[in-house]
Amino acid sequence: MFQSESFFKKYYSYFLKGTLTTILLALFGVLVGSVLGSLLAIMKLAKNIVLRGIANVYIEFVRGTPLLAQIFLVYFGSTVFGLELSAFTASCVALALNSGAYVAEIIRAGLNSVNKGQTEAARSLGMDSKQTLRFILFPQAVKNILPALGNEFVTIIKESSVVSVIGVSELMFQAGVVQGASFKPFLPILCISLIYFVLTFTLSRLIGLFEKKLALSD
Ligand code: ARG
Repeated sequence: MFQSESFFKKYYSYFLKGTLTTILLALFGVLVGSVLGSLLAIMKLAKNIVLRGIANVYIEFVRGTPLLAQIFLVYFGSTVFGLELSAFTASCVALALNSGAYVAEIIRAGLNSVNKGQTEAARSLGMDSKQTLRFILFPQAVKNILPALGNEFVTIIKESSVVSVIGVSELMFQAGVVQGASFKPFLPILCISLIYFVLTFTLSRLIGLFEKKLALSD
């Protein structure tokens, strides 16, 4: 199994390309997802019932359907609407749309985690609900929100493996290519698993450090 030297020499470039694509997909997914998630969270807090309804339906739908189905919906849906997105673009869009719903929940949970007394105190000082959110709730919620966003990044790195089904050459896809080229079914999967692990483990360690720093400033 491990006549590994020539294996790695021959195929490392596939894994490297896959790693870069995976990182790119996850970065885009989480960044755009965070913007979308913030918007959805604001909509959920709004007084307007229509805005709240749209946000709720969106979040429930996205969290209640498989990411795999959403990827196909975006990819083939784009053709139906005459957009013809490339597989890579469709994947970025699908990951961002998916992540947005989860980020909205992260923000909601973060705001909820702030003690209710804080709102009451702010309101009794004469702040309106917008000021309370901006100056009292949000600065405290951020300490829960940022680490959770980091975890979302970890999740998206792993979940991005699903876009291999539409042929985006990220890590999982490259593993398939190397499997076919080398006639080795196991080794390529082992390699990409290790790469995924290095990525997610490093990231969660960094998040842990960051979390400690935030806690110190309390
Ligand atoms: N694998 C699950 C699904 O297909 C989880 C997706 C998680 N997404 C996220 N952005 N946290 O629905």
